[in-house]
Amino acid sequence: MVHDRVTSETAIRRFAEMVRTGVVAEPYGRPRLGIDLGTANVVLSVVDDENQPVAGAWVHSTVVRDGVVVDWAGATTIVRRLKEELERRLGHRFTTASVSIPPGISEGDTKVFRNVATAAGLETDEVVDEPVAAARALGITDGCVIDIGHGTTGVSILSESRVLLSVDEATGGHHMNLVLAGAYKIGYDVAEVMKKDPARIDEVMGVIRPTLEKMASIADAALTGYDVPAVYLVGGSSSFPDAPDVFAQRLARPVTRPAEPLFVTPLGIAMKELPDDRG
Ligand SMILES: Nc1ncnc2c1ncn2[C@@H]1O[C@H](COP(=O)(O)OP(=O)(O)OP(=O)(O)O)[C@@H](O)[C@H]1O
Ligand SMILES: [Mg+2]
Repeated sequence: MVHDRVTSETAIRRFAEMVRTGVVAEPYGRPRLGIDLGTANVVLSVVDDENQPVAGAWVHSTVVRDGVVVDWAGATTIVRRLKEELERRLGHRFTTASVSIPPGISEGDTKVFRNVATAAGLETDEVVDEPVAAARALGITDGCVIDIGHGTTGVSILSESRVLLSVDEATGGHHMNLVLAGAYKIGYDVAEVMKKDPARIDEVMGVIRPTLEKMASIADAALTGYDVPAVYLVGGSSSFPDAPDVFAQRLARPVTRPAEPLFVTPLGIAMKELPDDRG
């Protein structure tokens, strides 16, 4: 297979397709593994020596809550299973992995994330802050990364690939589900499905817009006094077509949301920081 370098937007789309379909690409050089333990999803990513996506796997899970691993055995089992699945698909054995952590968590909680990898048979070669991982996948070094996931809204300001400031507040897709469940008098799991049904997008937006606005106000407060060159929106809860507009209005700045925002951070975890563009 011919190896072709692609832009970050294309790489994110390609990685999402790999996760969803199980297709793999021929790696250029040694494949690298990344682990994202999220509140709603655990995602493993593989990239090659040129940071190009090679493979991915994911599972819905509830092993992490509020940035803390709450089910250690469950997390370990999932990581091991996904790792073995990727090893079978690629015919390659992994002994090391990069692990992402929400920025600002304690030393002790960070250690638990590392220990999950260790217990799954993987030595941790890098612990990377989630927004730094997102920035790598986006191909940026400076700006604001807003990550709206299932449990929290994370707002991070990056300068030269380092986190200058990070705020994490408990508003995410979980809260949208609660609001939808209440408004329609339906169960939580039914609300989760309704939320992602493109045929019901208008109804859903009517109910969850205030939650998105709340997220945007968290970002607005965090950004006060900072002059950032660009704002990027990532995480599964930014999948709504109107999400960038809601944030752009509140922040009075342009907001960029890549296609497949759920897969940006997971892809970036496996990537190494390239000193320059070697293309
Ligand atoms: N198409 C979609 N439309 C709306 N919401 C979506 C869509 N796809 C996924 N989501 C929501 O995105 C959330 C999961 O996103 P993500 O995987 O980024 O979160 P996470 O990393 O597990 O959570 P956290 O970052 O808070 O720990 C869930 O609430 C899910 O319902
Ligand atoms: Mg997340």
